[in-house]
Amino acid sequence: MSVLVTGGCGYIGSHTCVELLNRNYDVVIVDNLSNSKRSVVDKIEEITHKNVKFYEDDVCDKDALRKIFNENKIDMVIHFAGFKAVGESVLNPMKYYRNNLVSTICLCEVMKEYNCKNLVFSSSATVYGTPRRVPIKETAHLSTTNPYGTTKLFIERILTDLYKSDNEWNIVLLRYFNPIGAHESGLIGEDPNGIPNNLMPYIVKVATHELNELSVFGNDYNTKDGTGVRDYIHVVDLAIGHVKAIEKINKSKGLFIYNLGTGKGYSVLEVLNTFMKVNNVDVKYKIVGRRSGDVASCYANPEKALKGLGFKTTKNLEEMCRDAYNFAIKNK
Ligand code: NAD
Ligand code: UFG
Repeated sequence: MSVLVTGGCGYIGSHTCVELLNRNYDVVIVDNLSNSKRSVVDKIEEITHKNVKFYEDDVCDKDALRKIFNENKIDMVIHFAGFKAVGESVLNPMKYYRNNLVSTICLCEVMKEYNCKNLVFSSSATVYGTPRRVPIKETAHLSTTNPYGTTKLFIERILTDLYKSDNEWNIVLLRYFNPIGAHESGLIGEDPNGIPNNLMPYIVKVATHELNELSVFGNDYNTKDGTGVRDYIHVVDLAIGHVKAIEKINKSKGLFIYNLGTGKGYSVLEVLNTFMKVNNVDVKYKIVGRRSGDVASCYANPEKALKGLGFKTTKNLEEMCRDAYNFAIKNK
């Protein structure tokens, strides 16, 4: 079975390619390298000892997509390609609406031309906006607080309408919580350009002395220690969630929505202290004011994914912190 992975050179896509190849799926990657490097393809092949077919193309380019479908018999598509920086999406919303929406529309149109109607889409817990209660179920109220989140919500709606119009489509919308960590080989991981926005990449850069100190955004939330609580999921567990989604649409037909999280919430200080302990390294930090748009607590109810996909995370916070640091020091 052959899977086209859009954005397969990126952080989550590359780990998913590894898990697919390990289970003997054929993998074709399309990525325009706007936020990743060509060398990731070699790393995926080094880890798995399998070959990957790579196309350096933009998913918004329908002719490029047609060429890929002409040259390969694609059975399923996992669509990771898109922009994901929340702050940048506020400053430059059109860049986000164009890339994230147009790429999805072009992809679905070309998939239809080739009668490939099996799609797994990277959505996000961002579609829950400011959650009214935690843990969050898939049936929770949806809203968004920034243009990036709005692209995810719009795409969920577009794909739902597509499914309603033609029940031959099989679509899985996966709402990820906070992916961190890296492959245990240290060959692939998260490598953001510039100053990171997210907690774990920032901690890593302070630990490797590329940045001075971490700012902890607020210690006056109504949480266990006053700092923000999130559901951190190891990126390899998340990648396996995609394999489960592929298996799901092989067996059952329809449109499915699942949270991919651990169901456990950890505070900023818990993550920080665990990171320092398991890696035996110091990370300087200071408490500063809240970051605008942040919520106190956000973590998944993972039961639906357990029942519907047989998906359960296996890696703990210690492993997430160890693997994130291991990737950083190997690739410094
Ligand atoms: P990433 O930036 O590492 O990977 C995205 C990949 O897509 C990159 O390799 C980039 O070069 C490529 N790309 C972007 N636009 C493209 C286009 N038009 N054509 C071809 N390639 C294109 O991001 P990631 O963390 O791996 O995230 C993957 C997906 O998961 C994204 O859709 C993101 O919004 C979603 N997501 C990520 C997180 C997270 O915290 N990392 C959380 C929830 C959802
Ligand atoms: N934090 C800090 N200092 C930092 C960065 C983050 O204290 O330098 C805190 C935040 O305030 C928050 C926690 O660490 O309490 C996690 O913040 P992240 O930026 O790592 O993650 P978010 O939960 O804010 O958001 C991320 C993505 C969203 C996505 C969401 C759920 O950026 O796009 O996870 O998947 F929607």
